Amino acid sequence: MSRFQPSHRSSVAPFIAMEVLAAAVERERAGHRVIHMEVGQPGANAPSRVIAAAKRALDGRLGYTEALGIRELREAIAGHYAATYGIAVAPDRIAVTAGSSGAFNLAFLAAFEPGARVAMPTPGYPAYRNLLAALGLEAVEIECGPETRWALTPEMLERAHAEKPLDGVLIASPANPTGTMYSPEVLDALVKAADAMGLWFISDEIYHGLVHNGRQATALASSDRAIVVNSFSKYYCMTGWRIGWMVMPEVLAKPIDRLAQNLTLSNNEISQRAALAAFDPASTVELDVVKAGYTANRAFLLEHLPRLGFDDLLPVDGAFYAYASVARFSNDSIDFVKRMLAEAGVAATPGPDFDAARGHGYVRFSFAGTMADMVEATDRLGRWLPKIG
Ligand SMILES: Cc1ncc(COP(=O)(O)O)c(C=O)c1O
Repeated sequence: MSRFQPSHRSSVAPFIAMEVLAAAVERERAGHRVIHMEVGQPGANAPSRVIAAAKRALDGRLGYTEALGIRELREAIAGHYAATYGIAVAPDRIAVTAGSSGAFNLAFLAAFEPGARVAMPTPGYPAYRNLLAALGLEAVEIECGPETRWALTPEMLERAHAEKPLDGVLIASPANPTGTMYSPEVLDALVKAADAMGLWFISDEIYHGLVHNGRQATALASSDRAIVVNSFSKYYCMTGWRIGWMVMPEVLAKPIDRLAQNLTLSNNEISQRAALAAFDPASTVELDVVKAGYTANRAFLLEHLPRLGFDDLLPVDGAFYAYASVARFSNDSIDFVKRMLAEAGVAATPGPDFDAARGHGYVRFSFAGTMADMVEATDRLGRWLPKIG
């Protein structure tokens, strides 16, 4: 056999959402209209001050920056924790990263030895387990359901730890694909339980700022050992700028700096200069208008999806996703999604991306587009669903 083979670690699962996107784009190229509800990204552009700051940055010299980010941005992010959560975080504990994806890479490498076991709720964002696998770490998926409002509980964590010791736990709140959120009390109990068990707690707070129902809380309020990951991608409408951040426990700050120096040298300077303007009050005004659009889309879908037969929806507390059972129509959501795209021109993501065991019964609709898209999608589904047998 040839030695020139890809490594075993590279054989991670594909992200089916991206495959649906490719099929949708192909269909558009063939001249058909497609409503995009498959990819989780804002339809809106970045705030105008962010764009202006990026243009200004282009007039100066762009170079490498400190591996953990320019000082001003680290200070601005620290200021965001004081203003939003009333929590003091030293700028030295902030790392600017290439989206939250870059932060996960650094956090996993800094916190875990090879073979470490990291618990996470299912359904969940697929890149967590795939990245862990590529790094030689083990994702321990714990099935969650309506009985806990799709949240991991301290008891579930303790049970899994007793079966075979864990090294960490990772949750997102609001979550993808479910949109469900941990209440501040439930989150606090989970963070403290993980702390007591000696487990690293990684909190993905990328959908903070996009809360429709309930109160968001940061894991930092419960432990300064929590690793908190966030991003400019979602609330700030900056997916393509590839910029995010992480709040590091003090003991990990130097190791993460060393890893970042070697893995990436530096983040993109334009995006860092631009991101400074994301915290500007004028940006917040623009972003809150975008968010109000999601809230209206959410209300529209919560009324119309059940009428169409998607009558088993998870609680959509935050983010811009509705995770709906398709059990009435199909027991194969991958096939359902392919037909929905080909026959109704509506693209969505099938559940197996998020939950290998139960996802065949679910589809995730992203409602980060316009209200006109929501209306057209539900009209199209209203005409199509009665025809499928
Ligand atoms: C829960 C969650 N975490 C992390 C990410 C990665 O986002 P980014 O790398 O753009 O910050 C996503 C993207 O969809 C997500 O849904």
